[in-house]
Amino acid sequence: MKVSVKVPATTANIGPGFDCLGLALPIYNEITVEETVMPGSGIEINIIEDNETLDVLSIPKDENNIAYKAIELLYNFIGQSVSDIKITIKTNIPVTRGLGSSASVIVGGLMAANKLLGEPADEAVLLSIASEVEGHPDNVTPALVGGFCLSSLEADGSVYYSKLDWPLNWKLTVLIPDYELDTSIARSVLPDCVSIPDAAYNIRKCAMLIDAVYKKDAQLMKKCLKDKIHQPYREKLVKGFKELSELLENKNDIIGCVISGAGPTILVISENDGFEKVKDDVKLIFKELNVNCDIRTLSIENEGTIVI
Ligand code: HSE
Repeated sequence: MKVSVKVPATTANIGPGFDCLGLALPIYNEITVEETVMPGSGIEINIIEDNETLDVLSIPKDENNIAYKAIELLYNFIGQSVSDIKITIKTNIPVTRGLGSSASVIVGGLMAANKLLGEPADEAVLLSIASEVEGHPDNVTPALVGGFCLSSLEADGSVYYSKLDWPLNWKLTVLIPDYELDTSIARSVLPDCVSIPDAAYNIRKCAMLIDAVYKKDAQLMKKCLKDKIHQPYREKLVKGFKELSELLENKNDIIGCVISGAGPTILVISENDGFEKVKDDVKLIFKELNVNCDIRTLSIENEGTIVI
Protein backbone atom coordinates (compact mmCIF):
# COMPACT_ATOMS: atom_id res chain seq x y z
CA MET A 1 0.00 0.00 0.00
CA LYS A 2 1.17 3.53 -0.68
CA VAL A 3 -0.11 7.04 -0.07
CA SER A 4 0.77 10.20 -2.02
CA VAL A 5 0.15 13.74 -0.87
CA LYS A 6 0.53 17.16 -2.44
CA VAL A 7 2.01 19.89 -0.19
CA PRO A 8 2.20 23.63 -0.94
CA ALA A 9 5.19 25.93 -0.67
CA THR A 10 5.07 28.56 2.08
CA THR A 11 6.43 32.01 2.79
CA ALA A 12 7.13 32.73 6.45
CA ASN A 13 7.53 35.78 8.73
CA ILE A 14 5.68 38.28 6.43
CA GLY A 15 7.90 41.04 7.82
CA PRO A 16 7.44 41.47 11.59
CA GLY A 17 5.97 38.02 12.36
CA PHE A 18 9.29 36.21 12.85
CA ASP A 19 8.75 32.46 13.49
CA CYS A 20 5.00 33.10 13.79
CA LEU A 21 3.31 34.22 10.54
CA GLY A 22 3.24 32.27 7.30
CA LEU A 23 1.09 31.62 4.27
CA ALA A 24 0.79 28.89 1.66
CA LEU A 25 1.57 29.37 -2.04
CA PRO A 26 0.39 27.29 -5.01
CA ILE A 27 3.71 25.60 -5.86
CA TYR A 28 3.70 21.95 -4.81
CA ASN A 29 5.86 19.01 -3.86
CA GLU A 30 4.44 15.49 -4.02
CA ILE A 31 5.49 12.99 -1.39
CA THR A 32 4.72 9.27 -1.57
CA VAL A 33 5.26 6.91 1.34
CA GLU A 34 4.97 3.15 0.91
CA GLU A 35 5.71 0.03 2.86
CA THR A 36 8.25 -1.88 0.84
CA VAL A 37 7.20 -5.33 -0.31
CA MET A 38 10.44 -7.03 0.65
CA PRO A 39 10.83 -7.18 4.45
CA GLY A 40 14.34 -6.20 5.52
CA SER A 41 14.89 -3.89 2.56
CA GLY A 42 15.32 -0.88 4.91
CA ILE A 43 14.89 2.73 3.92
CA GLU A 44 14.73 3.86 0.31
CA ILE A 45 14.47 7.54 -0.51
CA ASN A 46 14.07 8.76 -4.07
CA ILE A 47 14.10 12.36 -5.21
CA ILE A 48 12.48 13.19 -8.53
CA GLU A 49 13.01 16.66 -9.94
CA ASP A 50 9.83 17.96 -11.46
CA ASN A 51 11.65 21.09 -12.47
CA GLU A 52 15.09 20.36 -13.85
CA THR A 53 16.50 23.71 -12.75
CA LEU A 54 16.25 22.65 -9.11
CA ASP A 55 19.42 21.65 -7.33
CA VAL A 56 18.25 18.71 -5.22
CA LEU A 57 21.61 16.97 -4.88
CA SER A 58 21.98 18.32 -1.35
CA ILE A 59 18.85 16.50 -0.12
CA PRO A 60 19.94 13.51 2.04
CA LYS A 61 18.69 10.08 0.99
CA ASP A 62 19.32 8.27 4.28
CA GLU A 63 18.23 8.52 7.94
CA ASN A 64 19.21 12.20 7.86
CA ASN A 65 16.40 12.99 5.44
CA ILE A 66 13.94 15.27 7.27
CA ALA A 67 10.85 13.49 5.91
CA TYR A 68 12.27 10.25 7.29
CA LYS A 69 13.08 11.88 10.65
CA ALA A 70 9.49 13.12 10.93
CA ILE A 71 8.07 9.71 9.98
CA GLU A 72 10.32 8.06 12.57
CA LEU A 73 8.90 10.37 15.28
CA LEU A 74 5.37 9.47 14.17
CA TYR A 75 6.13 5.76 14.47
CA ASN A 76 7.67 6.40 17.91
CA PHE A 77 4.49 8.24 18.91
CA ILE A 78 2.50 5.04 18.32
CA GLY A 79 5.15 2.92 20.02
CA GLN A 80 6.62 1.43 16.85
CA SER A 81 9.87 1.81 14.92
CA VAL A 82 10.19 2.28 11.17
CA SER A 83 11.59 -0.74 9.40
CA ASP A 84 11.04 -1.02 5.66
CA ILE A 85 9.84 2.12 3.99
CA LYS A 86 10.13 3.87 0.67
CA ILE A 87 9.77 7.66 0.41
CA THR A 88 9.53 9.37 -2.96
CA ILE A 89 9.82 13.15 -3.08
CA LYS A 90 8.81 14.80 -6.33
CA THR A 91 10.17 18.32 -5.96
CA ASN A 92 8.83 21.38 -7.60
CA ILE A 93 9.40 23.87 -4.78
CA PRO A 94 12.84 25.50 -5.14
CA VAL A 95 15.17 24.31 -2.36
CA THR A 96 17.06 26.60 0.07
CA ARG A 97 15.25 29.64 -1.29
CA GLY A 98 12.98 30.57 1.66
CA LEU A 99 9.87 28.93 0.20
CA GLY A 100 9.33 26.19 2.76
CA SER A 101 10.72 23.25 0.76
CA SER A 102 11.89 21.53 3.95
CA ALA A 103 8.55 22.14 5.69
CA SER A 104 6.76 20.65 2.69
CA VAL A 105 8.69 17.36 2.79
CA ILE A 106 8.33 17.10 6.58
CA VAL A 107 4.58 17.70 6.42
CA GLY A 108 4.17 15.53 3.32
CA GLY A 109 6.08 12.61 4.83
CA LEU A 110 4.06 12.85 8.04
CA MET A 111 0.65 13.14 6.34
CA ALA A 112 1.33 10.24 3.99
CA ALA A 113 2.76 7.97 6.70
CA ASN A 114 -0.11 8.83 9.06
CA LYS A 115 -2.63 7.86 6.38
CA LEU A 116 -0.71 4.66 5.71
CA LEU A 117 -0.86 3.81 9.43
CA GLY A 118 -4.64 4.36 9.62
CA GLU A 119 -4.45 7.94 10.92
CA PRO A 120 -3.35 7.36 14.53
CA ALA A 121 -2.22 11.00 14.89
CA ASP A 122 -4.53 14.00 14.81
CA GLU A 123 -3.65 17.42 13.39
CA ALA A 124 -2.23 18.63 16.73
CA VAL A 125 0.23 15.71 16.89
CA LEU A 126 1.27 16.18 13.26
CA LEU A 127 1.91 19.90 13.82
CA SER A 128 3.86 19.22 16.98
CA ILE A 129 6.13 16.63 15.29
CA ALA A 130 6.56 18.79 12.18
CA SER A 131 7.54 21.82 14.28
CA GLU A 132 9.96 19.74 16.33
CA VAL A 133 11.77 18.63 13.16
CA GLU A 134 11.64 22.07 11.49
CA GLY A 135 12.42 24.03 14.70
CA HIS A 136 9.62 26.57 14.25
CA PRO A 137 5.94 26.37 13.21
CA ASP A 138 5.54 29.25 10.73
CA ASN A 139 6.12 27.18 7.56
CA VAL A 140 4.78 23.78 8.62
CA THR A 141 1.40 25.14 9.78
CA PRO A 142 0.32 26.74 6.48
CA ALA A 143 1.93 23.82 4.60
CA LEU A 144 -0.46 21.50 6.46
CA VAL A 145 -3.64 23.59 6.61
CA GLY A 146 -3.15 26.19 3.83
CA GLY A 147 -3.96 29.89 3.94
CA PHE A 148 -2.52 32.64 6.14
CA CYS A 149 -1.64 31.31 9.59
CA LEU A 150 -0.49 32.67 12.93
CA SER A 151 1.14 29.91 14.91
CA SER A 152 2.88 29.50 18.22
CA LEU A 153 5.21 26.70 19.29
CA GLU A 154 4.76 26.19 23.03
CA ALA A 155 7.39 25.09 25.53
CA ASP A 156 5.78 21.62 25.77
CA GLY A 157 6.13 21.17 22.00
CA SER A 158 2.46 21.76 21.16
CA VAL A 159 1.42 24.24 18.50
CA TYR A 160 -1.67 26.37 18.43
CA TYR A 161 -2.64 28.37 15.41
CA SER A 162 -5.29 30.59 13.82
CA LYS A 163 -6.05 30.86 10.14
CA LEU A 164 -7.25 34.25 8.88
CA ASP A 165 -8.85 35.05 5.52
CA TRP A 166 -6.30 36.67 3.25
CA PRO A 167 -7.80 39.39 1.01
CA LEU A 168 -8.15 37.77 -2.43
CA ASN A 169 -7.04 40.91 -4.27
CA TRP A 170 -3.71 40.99 -2.36
CA LYS A 171 -1.41 39.24 -4.81
CA LEU A 172 1.83 37.59 -3.84
CA THR A 173 4.82 37.94 -6.13
CA VAL A 174 7.86 35.84 -5.31
CA LEU A 175 11.24 36.87 -6.72
CA ILE A 176 13.20 33.62 -6.61
CA PRO A 177 16.92 34.22 -7.27
CA ASP A 178 19.32 31.75 -8.81
CA TYR A 179 21.44 31.38 -5.67
CA GLU A 180 20.82 29.42 -2.48
CA LEU A 181 20.83 30.58 1.13
CA ASP A 182 20.82 27.96 3.84
CA THR A 183 18.38 28.72 6.66
CA SER A 184 21.05 27.86 9.24
CA ILE A 185 23.29 30.59 7.80
CA ALA A 186 20.42 33.10 7.69
CA ARG A 187 19.64 32.30 11.34
CA SER A 188 23.30 32.45 12.40
CA VAL A 189 23.53 36.16 11.50
CA LEU A 190 20.74 37.05 13.95
CA PRO A 191 21.74 38.46 17.34
CA ASP A 192 21.08 36.48 20.53
CA CYS A 193 19.20 39.45 22.00
CA VAL A 194 17.29 42.43 20.60
CA SER A 195 16.64 45.74 22.33
CA ILE A 196 13.32 46.58 24.01
CA PRO A 197 12.61 49.38 21.45
CA ASP A 198 13.17 46.94 18.55
CA ALA A 199 11.04 44.24 20.18
CA ALA A 200 8.28 46.79 20.90
CA TYR A 201 8.45 47.99 17.26
CA ASN A 202 7.88 44.44 15.99
CA ILE A 203 5.11 43.72 18.50
CA ARG A 204 3.10 46.76 17.38
CA LYS A 205 3.71 46.13 13.65
CA CYS A 206 2.70 42.49 13.98
CA ALA A 207 -0.41 43.27 16.04
CA MET A 208 -1.52 45.92 13.52
CA LEU A 209 -0.73 43.58 10.61
CA ILE A 210 -3.26 41.06 11.92
CA ASP A 211 -5.84 43.85 12.16
CA ALA A 212 -5.01 45.01 8.62
CA VAL A 213 -5.55 41.50 7.22
CA TYR A 214 -8.75 41.09 9.25
CA LYS A 215 -10.10 44.42 7.96
CA LYS A 216 -8.63 43.89 4.45
CA ASP A 217 -7.14 47.37 4.85
CA ALA A 218 -4.27 47.79 2.35
CA GLN A 219 -3.37 51.28 3.59
CA LEU A 220 -2.91 49.97 7.13
CA MET A 221 -1.04 46.89 5.86
CA LYS A 222 1.47 49.17 4.10
CA LYS A 223 2.56 50.45 7.52
CA CYS A 224 2.83 46.98 9.03
CA LEU A 225 5.35 45.06 6.90
CA LYS A 226 8.40 46.58 8.54
CA ASP A 227 10.64 44.61 10.85
CA LYS A 228 13.59 45.30 13.13
CA ILE A 229 14.53 41.88 14.47
CA HIS A 230 15.60 39.78 11.47
CA GLN A 231 15.53 41.60 8.12
CA PRO A 232 18.12 44.27 9.01
CA TYR A 233 20.59 41.48 9.85
CA ARG A 234 19.76 39.35 6.81
CA GLU A 235 19.69 42.20 4.30
CA LYS A 236 23.36 41.67 3.42
CA LEU A 237 22.60 38.05 2.44
CA VAL A 238 19.60 38.89 0.24
CA LYS A 239 20.71 40.61 -2.94
CA GLY A 240 18.44 43.41 -4.08
CA PHE A 241 16.29 43.59 -0.95
CA LYS A 242 17.46 47.04 0.09
CA GLU A 243 17.19 48.46 -3.45
CA LEU A 244 13.77 46.89 -3.96
CA SER A 245 12.45 48.21 -0.63
CA GLU A 246 13.48 51.73 -1.67
CA LEU A 247 11.99 51.36 -5.16
CA LEU A 248 8.64 50.07 -3.91
CA GLU A 249 8.19 52.53 -1.04
CA ASN A 250 5.14 54.71 -1.80
CA LYS A 251 4.31 53.04 -5.13
CA ASN A 252 0.60 52.88 -5.91
CA ASP A 253 -0.93 49.42 -5.47
CA ILE A 254 2.21 48.02 -3.87
CA ILE A 255 1.58 47.04 -0.26
CA GLY A 256 5.19 46.20 0.51
CA CYS A 257 8.05 43.76 0.22
CA VAL A 258 9.64 41.42 2.74
CA ILE A 259 12.23 38.66 2.82
CA SER A 260 10.44 35.34 2.26
CA GLY A 261 11.23 33.17 5.29
CA ALA A 262 14.98 33.16 5.78
CA GLY A 263 15.53 34.29 2.16
CA PRO A 264 16.91 34.69 -0.42
CA THR A 265 13.49 34.88 -2.14
CA ILE A 266 11.77 38.26 -1.77
CA LEU A 267 7.98 38.49 -1.43
CA VAL A 268 6.15 41.51 -2.85
CA ILE A 269 2.54 42.02 -1.80
CA SER A 270 0.46 44.13 -4.16
CA GLU A 271 -3.14 45.00 -4.81
CA ASN A 272 -4.53 43.35 -7.94
CA ASP A 273 -2.07 43.68 -10.84
CA GLY A 274 0.00 46.36 -9.05
CA PHE A 275 3.22 44.39 -9.48
CA GLU A 276 2.94 44.51 -13.29
CA LYS A 277 3.40 48.31 -13.16
CA VAL A 278 6.79 48.00 -11.46
CA LYS A 279 7.98 44.72 -13.01
CA ASP A 280 10.41 46.29 -15.49
CA ASP A 281 12.06 48.42 -12.77
CA VAL A 282 12.34 45.36 -10.53
CA LYS A 283 13.97 43.34 -13.34
CA LEU A 284 16.47 46.15 -13.87
CA ILE A 285 17.55 46.01 -10.20
CA PHE A 286 18.36 42.31 -10.48
CA LYS A 287 20.01 42.75 -13.88
CA GLU A 288 22.36 45.35 -12.41
CA LEU A 289 23.17 42.95 -9.56
CA ASN A 290 23.79 40.09 -12.03
CA VAL A 291 21.15 37.93 -10.39
CA ASN A 292 18.77 35.84 -12.49
CA CYS A 293 15.34 35.87 -10.94
CA ASP A 294 12.30 33.69 -11.53
CA ILE A 295 9.37 36.08 -10.95
CA ARG A 296 5.96 34.54 -10.22
CA THR A 297 2.76 36.34 -9.21
CA LEU A 298 0.49 33.99 -7.28
CA SER A 299 -2.71 33.88 -5.25
CA ILE A 300 -2.77 32.42 -1.77
CA GLU A 301 -3.17 28.62 -1.52
CA ASN A 302 -5.99 27.76 0.86
CA GLU A 303 -6.21 23.97 0.89
CA GLY A 304 -2.93 22.91 2.44
CA THR A 305 -1.82 19.30 2.17
CA ILE A 306 -4.16 16.90 0.39
CA VAL A 307 -4.02 13.19 -0.34
CA ILE A 308 -3.87 12.54 -4.09
N1 HSE B 1 11.01 31.86 10.56
C1 HSE B 1 12.08 31.17 9.91
C2 HSE B 1 13.28 32.11 9.81
C3 HSE B 1 11.63 30.74 8.55
O1 HSE B 1 13.07 33.28 9.48
O2 HSE B 1 14.40 31.70 10.06
C4 HSE B 1 12.69 30.01 7.79
O3 HSE B 1 12.54 28.66 7.86
